Amino acid sequence: MHSFEECFKNTPNTSLAEMLKCAGVAALKAGEAIRNLYGKPHTIKQKGAIDLVTEADTASEEIILSALNDSQPGIDILSEETHSSYDKKTTGPVWIIDPLDGTTNFAHGFPWFAVSIAFSDQGRTQAGVIYNPIFDEFFCACSGSGAWLNNERIRVSEAALLKDSLLATGFPYDVQQHPGPVLASLERLLVRSRGVRRAGAAALDLAYVACGRLDGFWEIKLKPWDTAAGILLVEEAGGRVSDFRGNTYTPYLPEIVATNSHIHPEMQNLLESFSLF
Ligand code: IPD
Ligand code: CA
Ligand code: CA
Repeated sequence: MHSFEECFKNTPNTSLAEMLKCAGVAALKAGEAIRNLYGKPHTIKQKGAIDLVTEADTASEEIILSALNDSQPGIDILSEETHSSYDKKTTGPVWIIDPLDGTTNFAHGFPWFAVSIAFSDQGRTQAGVIYNPIFDEFFCACSGSGAWLNNERIRVSEAALLKDSLLATGFPYDVQQHPGPVLASLERLLVRSRGVRRAGAAALDLAYVACGRLDGFWEIKLKPWDTAAGILLVEEAGGRVSDFRGNTYTPYLPEIVATNSHIHPEMQNLLESFSLF
């Protein structure tokens, strides 16, 4: 049984279910390749001072692109390592891919990273998968069909107050140049919650909000491939996603707050003054 079987069966729109299957097969294959490369010697190239790329990023991307093209040819691609320029107005069908989310972790042998693939149409994610190859945890969702982890339905947490919540965040790659707002927002939420984690893979942060292991997540300057799959997981699990002002979030926006919905107003109010708009 594939890890996306239950979500597939519960998606009445058969063409959407096919997209999920196609993304699922690609993510599992890519995850296996990453797992095989993990812990072995590897080359690290620097895209920026702290923005890395390894052969696992490129190997994973090649596997995903060829798997998607084989089963659903002709769909536009937005993928981090080879198709990373994007037009914010794109509304047609598109695959949005992060072949390895958590590259810094992978490069340092810290076992916390994932593959993220979303199918988006009309500017909205319709199907999304996130695979953690080390834990062998496969998260997926289709619009209107709920969110799933290894074939079990998942829900966001019940935490009602920020003071009882475990949060996550991440730091953008230009943090060395602009640490101020990042540290100030961290301080503001750190002193009002049970704790803040910075594990280093935004796709998994969102998947963890979806399954209730985290109650909320925020970050600035993420890219579409970091969030496109994860936001659908959160929403299908009963959570809420917005920008720092409480407006509808799309993966092309530079700020995100994603929660179990109960703590959303509290968290969003605290983040509002850090909005980049
Ligand atoms: C990064 C991770 C990290 C987040 C960064 C992302 P990458 O993605 O998701 O958690 O803080 O902003 O760029 O580069 O490892 O794919
Ligand atoms: Ca990423
Ligand atoms: Ca990546």
